[in-house]
Amino acid sequence: MDRNVKIAPSILSADFAELGKEVQNIDAAGADYIHIDVMDGHFVPNITIGPGVVKALRPHSNKPFDVHLMVAPVDPYISAFAEAGADLISIHIEPDYDHAKALSRIRALGKRSGIVINPDTRPEKVFPYLDEVDLVLCMTVQPGFGGQAFMPEVLDKVGIFHELREKEGHRYLIEVDGGVTPEHLPLCTKAGVDVFVAGTAYYRADTATRKAFAELAGETA
Ligand code: DX5
Ligand code: ZN
Repeated sequence: MDRNVKIAPSILSADFAELGKEVQNIDAAGADYIHIDVMDGHFVPNITIGPGVVKALRPHSNKPFDVHLMVAPVDPYISAFAEAGADLISIHIEPDYDHAKALSRIRALGKRSGIVINPDTRPEKVFPYLDEVDLVLCMTVQPGFGGQAFMPEVLDKVGIFHELREKEGHRYLIEVDGGVTPEHLPLCTKAGVDVFVAGTAYYRADTATRKAFAELAGETA
């Protein structure tokens, strides 16, 4: 199957005092999705963005908002992020909540749903949900902070999800998140990645490099 690889810059590495402008800039530079990291200081040891900020950013771009929820419990917040303007809402497999209920709630609100899996979580844990999700997000760092090193061993897991999708005819996209630099792109696409999140590497880049990043991502794998 031909895959058109996409880029989802993470605004976690943006200047938070200029977030609206930052979202406009990455939109203009060719982002396919705007990746928004929501952390609760409980499931992960960091606190970032709430639905109010997502709502304030919505008028700054028409690109899909890819909202990565690192929160537990998750249920009380799904509708708030949906109403704020999220297009894709992803929830982690690790916390002990009703994943099936949360995923169906996301879909019932008319949004695309994703399941996220940490580097040290077994892929089998998400198998029961593969038929229901639009995205499988494989963390290539431990969630919580930007600027960590990419964990190449996660690409084995990407390969498993890629193979399962081909074999069983699932529709989900495969996304990687954490420590991604342009150098990782060929390896990622070879393993089966469709969407890659980039925070630090993306924001470190100048405008020309960002364009190159986006063009590279636009190539068919
Ligand atoms: C980590 C976040 C990532 C991260 C990506 O918990 O989910 O989206 O911000 O940033 P870099 O590319 O710096 O790892
Ligand atoms: Zn993320």
